[in-house]
Amino acid sequence: MARRDRYIDLIEQSFYFPTEEFTVINNELYFHGVPLMKIIKEYGTPLKLTYLPKIGHNIQDAKRYFKNAMQKSNYNGSYTYCYCTKASHFEFVLNEVLKNDVHVETSSAYDIPILRELYNQKKIDKDTFILCNGYKRPLYLQYVSELINEGFINVIPILDNIREIDSYDAAITNHCNVGIRFASDEEPKFEFYTSRLGVRQNDIINLYKEKIENNPKFSLKMLHFFINTGVKDTAYYWGELTDFLNTYCELRKICPTIDSIDIGGGFPIKTSLEFKYNYQFMVDQIIDTIKEVCTENGVPEPNIFSEFGSFTVGESGAVLYSLLDQKLQNDKEVWYMIDGSFITNLPDMWGINQKFILLAVNHWDKKYKKVHLGGLTCDSQDYYYTDAHSADIYLPVLNDNDPKKQYIGFFHTGAYQESLGGYGGIQHCLIPAPKHVLIDRDEDGEVVTKLFAKEQESDSMLKILGYIKKEKVPSK
Ligand SMILES: Cc1ncc(COP(=O)(O)O)c(C=O)c1O
Repeated sequence: MARRDRYIDLIEQSFYFPTEEFTVINNELYFHGVPLMKIIKEYGTPLKLTYLPKIGHNIQDAKRYFKNAMQKSNYNGSYTYCYCTKASHFEFVLNEVLKNDVHVETSSAYDIPILRELYNQKKIDKDTFILCNGYKRPLYLQYVSELINEGFINVIPILDNIREIDSYDAAITNHCNVGIRFASDEEPKFEFYTSRLGVRQNDIINLYKEKIENNPKFSLKMLHFFINTGVKDTAYYWGELTDFLNTYCELRKICPTIDSIDIGGGFPIKTSLEFKYNYQFMVDQIIDTIKEVCTENGVPEPNIFSEFGSFTVGESGAVLYSLLDQKLQNDKEVWYMIDGSFITNLPDMWGINQKFILLAVNHWDKKYKKVHLGGLTCDSQDYYYTDAHSADIYLPVLNDNDPKKQYIGFFHTGAYQESLGGYGGIQHCLIPAPKHVLIDRDEDGEVVTKLFAKEQESDSMLKILGYIKKEKVPSK
């Protein structure tokens, strides 16, 4: 019998492979039909890439799940997809997102200048829903109030505490719809009981009665819900959702203006080739639960908003590295050294032990071995050695005499890594931000690539660190 000891054999034995995203032709990996070795030959590594069509694809998938579920249960309400901008603020992401009839959720004062720029470019308009979340410092409160005063009629500040509305009362001249964030309980194994974010359940009705009900400037429009662990089929998720819905119904009975709920973000993404998640089933259950709780309470079904971040942009991203060297540091642990850093390029790996899909890009016909991956910083934590599906990592055997380099890729890395890593700033051991390549398809479906950013250069670091003085602004 032929030996099955090549890397390709391992992957085919471990997973249903090829997948929707990954194929292998001539022992080289393709991501959504894009030959990654071609990209590497053109641009080199380390390299971040964004496969832009995946963004619209996922948005459309989510819209379809909600449409199907609403049709199945005769749901009397609408569904609005908002994009949670903090997942990735890049212009190329927002451009793609906004091609899909999508609205936005913000979390920072500095989101607002971005939205103004998108408005100037006619990518959003004054009817776009802008859900303003987060604990707000004065600049954020000011920017939100200014948008409302300028007639952005669907800006909805989501009140994070009982005092936030006082600032709008002082600054806003128009009428304004507001939402309240429900402070959910954390997962039982968490270090504390209730989320610090939002208004505690017992204060919500009072906040409405004392500050909104009799103030003609405000209408309460929405109750907002978000739990850290995401949308999961667990007793905890359903328990929290039901608690939240009961509070919505209590409010709806005394507040005729409230007609919407925001079920937050938290749709999961594939972080392993073994990923199993039935999106349609989960959305069906969510819609049925909302309908059931509202019917029990004799309350009309609300319009539903979501604000998916990772789901929108996570699966569009990847990072490709070269293996620089291998080091045997004792009798059995082999280290493959990458030409980048996990701590700085993929900080979730370091911070929350996040796993991503790891695959070899070439040499799928070689034998494989168990390895540890090491990053370039001097930090002992800059490593990766277990996958989501297995306690070990296996990659093709490196042959020191083989001039052909080994390349590897981490996939579905498109959400949060740049903002958490402080893209283009100063990072541990001055590891530069990698180059970033955008991949799209033209009208004929052909792959088109574009360099969004070169690898960070030393001048940009020296400027941040004060060695190169910033250009002087000419005096008037
Ligand atoms: C209020 C709020 N909405 C939406 C999101 C997006 O979550 P995700 O990226 O898991 O979809 C977050 C993430 O932290 C959040 O805090």
